[in-house]
Amino acid sequence: MPRFDRSHTDDLAAFITASPTPYHACAEAGRRLEAAGFRRLAETEEWPLGSNGDAPGYYVVRDGSVVAWRTPGEDARAFRIFGAHTDTPTFKVKPRPDTGAAGWKQVAVEVYGGVPHQTWLDRDLGVAGRLVLRDGTEVLVDVDRPLLRVPRLAIHLDRGANEGRALDPQGQLTPIWGLGQPREGEFLEFIAEEAGVDPDDVLGHDLFAVALDAPSYLGKDEELFAAWRLDNLTSLHAGVAALIAAEGTGPNVPVLAAFNYEEIGSMTYSGAQSPFLETVLRRLFGEDSQAFTRAMAASGMMSSDTGNSIHPNYPEKHDPTHRPIAGGGPMIKVSANQRYASGAEEEALFRRSAEHAGIPWQYYVNRNSIPGGTTIGPLSGTQLGILTVDVGLPILSMHSARELCGAEDPGRLADLALGLFEH
Ligand code: CO
Repeated sequence: MPRFDRSHTDDLAAFITASPTPYHACAEAGRRLEAAGFRRLAETEEWPLGSNGDAPGYYVVRDGSVVAWRTPGEDARAFRIFGAHTDTPTFKVKPRPDTGAAGWKQVAVEVYGGVPHQTWLDRDLGVAGRLVLRDGTEVLVDVDRPLLRVPRLAIHLDRGANEGRALDPQGQLTPIWGLGQPREGEFLEFIAEEAGVDPDDVLGHDLFAVALDAPSYLGKDEELFAAWRLDNLTSLHAGVAALIAAEGTGPNVPVLAAFNYEEIGSMTYSGAQSPFLETVLRRLFGEDSQAFTRAMAASGMMSSDTGNSIHPNYPEKHDPTHRPIAGGGPMIKVSANQRYASGAEEEALFRRSAEHAGIPWQYYVNRNSIPGGTTIGPLSGTQLGILTVDVGLPILSMHSARELCGAEDPGRLADLALGLFEH
């Protein structure tokens, strides 16, 4: 029987609002886990081993990635891992941001990941991220009010505007943030002030443009749900909720692993191609490498990321016999060429979890002529050497500053994660 309902989607809206960047997403996940009794561990400390833990679970954060797990029981002998990612395509502030032209102050940005340029034009944008101070501390900052805008060229000055024109990301996507002459250091001084720290103490920053529009339901019967970062906070939020709800899991240790940097290829010291997750799992077994290897052989991972719903205006973009739709439940993503981690055993793992959860579900398969994207499943499967299946919610407008999903689907994804943890 499903355990999560529409109120899970209300809660997702709050989670998204609290999580404008990967760093904020980890902090919000941590806050929720701690409220459920979980304890944060530092990678530099000694950890409680196996079932010796004194908390219901633990978590560790590294550079915008988070791994959390329930304390293993005496009979623990395998992991059930729900995977996600924490980052989203957007614009990242450059090291020396102050720039401008023709009487406008602007902020120099770099494109982060696969951004559909048009969707970011003429929007009120905030700025959020982290500052690293001289003493090594990390401070989160979230300017959640309109600060930046990438202004569109008026249609009168751009008669071909509706014929489709590529924008130059260096010169034509630079946001404005005021009038006057740019002054070196002004933007970061402002951000430091917002964060309540001395600008001279700020030695490093990861700052991103943030789409500010509040998440909302859409449609006469509110069957749809619109927000930024559905890709992939639907998955992180589902994993956190399921990990907190999972109890009495017997031999399988429930684990949540959400990685930063998926949108740019995962090759960083905390990404899905790093040893982060394996390092954490290995530490749960102390020196017993035999037990760890046996556990890995018996483990399964479900890697969750959004996928493409069939689009009413472009149905020809999907395979004619596989047409997943927003609102129809989570998808299992299948690819013969392993763009998604999939196969018969993986499909069976997914279907057992979905049956346990009592939820509707759908297949996603790429059209042969359109290879589509990939995600963290094949990466972490290859990295860990464990059975992995790719899943996720069908959405429209993926990577847009405003994505769209079915309003009932986020709760079903949380039920699927719980099905993985408990079946
Ligand atoms: Co994604």
